[in-house]
This record gives sequence, C-alpha cells and structure tokens, in this order.
Amino acid sequence: MKHTITLIPGDGIGPEITAATVRVIEATGVDITWETQILGAQALEKYGETLPEASIEAMRRNKVSLKGPIMTPIGKGFTSVNVGLRRALDLYANVRPVKALPNVPCRYPELDLVIVRENTEGLYSGLEHIVIPGVVESLKVITEKASTRIAKYAFEYARDNGRKKVTAVHKANIMKLSDGLFLECFYNQAKLFPEIEADDKIIDNTCMQLVMRPEQFDVMVMENLYGDILSDLCAGLIGGLGLAPGANIGEQGAVFEAVHGSAPDIAGQGIANPTALMLSAIEMLRYIGERDAAQRFETALFDVFKDGTSITKDLGGNAKTNEFARAIEEKIKAATSAAA
Ligand code: NAI
Repeated sequence: MKHTITLIPGDGIGPEITAATVRVIEATGVDITWETQILGAQALEKYGETLPEASIEAMRRNKVSLKGPIMTPIGKGFTSVNVGLRRALDLYANVRPVKALPNVPCRYPELDLVIVRENTEGLYSGLEHIVIPGVVESLKVITEKASTRIAKYAFEYARDNGRKKVTAVHKANIMKLSDGLFLECFYNQAKLFPEIEADDKIIDNTCMQLVMRPEQFDVMVMENLYGDILSDLCAGLIGGLGLAPGANIGEQGAVFEAVHGSAPDIAGQGIANPTALMLSAIEMLRYIGERDAAQRFETALFDVFKDGTSITKDLGGNAKTNEFARAIEEKIKAATSAAA
C-alpha cells in the first residue's frame, strides 16, 4: 500500500534524527512519499508565522505526520507551536507507549504499557480567574463528548494492538461530578468492547501501584493532568524522558514525535540519539497498518540495543547518529535476506 506522510524535520537535532529515522523506515520497504513542511522559527522566517496554513493544510490532507522537535521562538506573543498544533488539528489523544529497551539501566526492564491521555480539556482549559485578591479559581472542564472519545480511542487502541485490559485513572471519590462523568463515559464504552477487560483505579493508588507493581497495567486512560504526571512517572520507570516516544492523535490528523526537545547544545554534531523518534515512527507504522514493517523495525532496534556495540554518546557509547541508524538498517536487511 502507498502512503503520503508529512515530514517536519524541525529544529536543532530534528533534521539529523528525522533523516536517520526515515532511512530506517525506507529499509523496511514500506512505500511512503514524504511531503516536507516547516513549522516554528523556520516558518516564521519564511511565512511570517509559526504555524503556517500551508503546513497545517498538508498535515490535514495527509492525515499522518512524523515530526522532529520544534523550538518555539523566544519573545513576546509566541505561544507554543506544539500547543497550537494540537488545537489546530484537534489532536485529542496523547499516546505514550512505555517499554524498556534492552541494556538501558532502569527499574523495570520488562515493563510494557501504554498511557492514553485526554489532551484537550480538564484543568488545561485555561479557565482561571481571581475571585477576590488572594483567592483564585481554576476550572476543571470535563465533557461527555471528550471523555467518550478518549475512552473509545483507548479501547480501540487496545483491540487493534493485541492488548488485554484498559484501566481508567481518576479521583471520582472526591471529584464526584467531573471525574464521575469521565468514569461513567469510560464504562459506557467498555460495554462496546466486551473482549477487553476494563477496570479503574484512583490516581493516588495508581501512582503507588505503578512504582511497586507496574506489570498489572496494560493500557491506561485518563484526563489531562493525571496523564501529564503519570506519563512522566512511567518514563522514569524505564530510564527517563530521553527515550520516550509519543503520538498526538485526532480525527483530522495524527502527529508522531519524540517527547524530548531540539537539544540545541548538541545540534549539528551528528551525535543525537534518534531512538525516541524511531519508537514514535514504529507506532506510526502500526497506525497506518504497516504492522509487519513496524515489528521488523522494532526487533532490529531492540537487537542493536542488545548487542550494545552501536550505542550513541548519551547512553555511554560512541556511535554517531548515522552509525546507529546503519546498524539498525543492517539488521533489517539481514533479517529480510534470512527470511527470503
Ligand atoms: P531538550 O529535550 O531539547 O534537551 C534536554 C537535554 O537532553 C539536553 O542536554 C540535550 O542535549 C539532551 N537531549 C535531548 N534529546 C536528545 C537526543 N535525542 N539525543 C541526545 N541528547 C538529547 O530540552 P530543552 O533544552 O529544554 O529544550 C530545547 C528546545 O526544544 C526548546 O526550544 C523547547 O521549546 C523545545 N522543545 C520542543 C519539543 C517538541 O517540539 N515536541 C518538546 C520539548 C522541548
């Protein structure tokens, strides 16, 4: 099957890690036409705005984008490009797979779970006001529509990715109306997916359980703030944010990117670690239905980590970005010719 995907190389190390990732995707043999677009500071220079309509339109038209990190220009009046993009494309689900890599020191080498975070409302609606000096209110917005679509997404993700259970995380014992509605929508969706086990846990207990017995979780779904906190907690369980992949999914588009930023301190040196973007690209391949290519990419990447000989500087090795990519590419080619 042919695919057209928007490629946003991004800033800093972005062009280096996207080039390495595209090269490995191409080694899998998937038929992708890349349409390159720019956002952020580069777009500001060319089009006079950080989120140009031409780029947004391409992301909508192609539906799927692979994106390097973007530097939001520093100065007054520039809102975060990433937040703007989430709004423009209504990217309501933030998906963070949490899976440890071989030979990367961490607390839970066997961990394999997925966080699905609602990305558009909750306490991030920006509704804050001063009631009287010294008293402020911050409004938490939970709607039936957003809670239903995020729960539906989590169950569909579980079904499509061979996962067994979805856990809703909440504080409905205290926030009876808001989190209560979220939980009600979750269980309404659960009825439509009888093959997937559904349960729920209170957020504070979830934090303790994640630290002590994380293997009990599979897919986890939650509103915005809990998702923000738990996704970083889970990244910590497998070795930190540096290797964390992510996806922002909506009906008008899906954007796959690493969680880390543009690392200006090492940009242009050819030493950046492309692993997080590669893990995001593996999720992207699954999303577009190229499951076999995704599996071959993941196996090759994990094998390079198992060998431990072509590891980048940030993880204690001395491989350059392109040497690391070449090692993965060679594993894919070797596996392909062994199977032929
Ligand atoms: P950062 O994640 O870019 O860097 C933090 C530290 O981690 C640096 O020492 C960097 O060298 C290292 N690092 C990050 N990624 C690495 C990689 N792939 N390989 C090896 N080392 C890596 O965070 P920072 O410095 O706070 O942000 C830099 C810029 O990135 C800012 O302009 C920020 O706005 C932007 N940013 C963009 C994001 C996105 O587009 N999704 C997300 C986070 C930040």
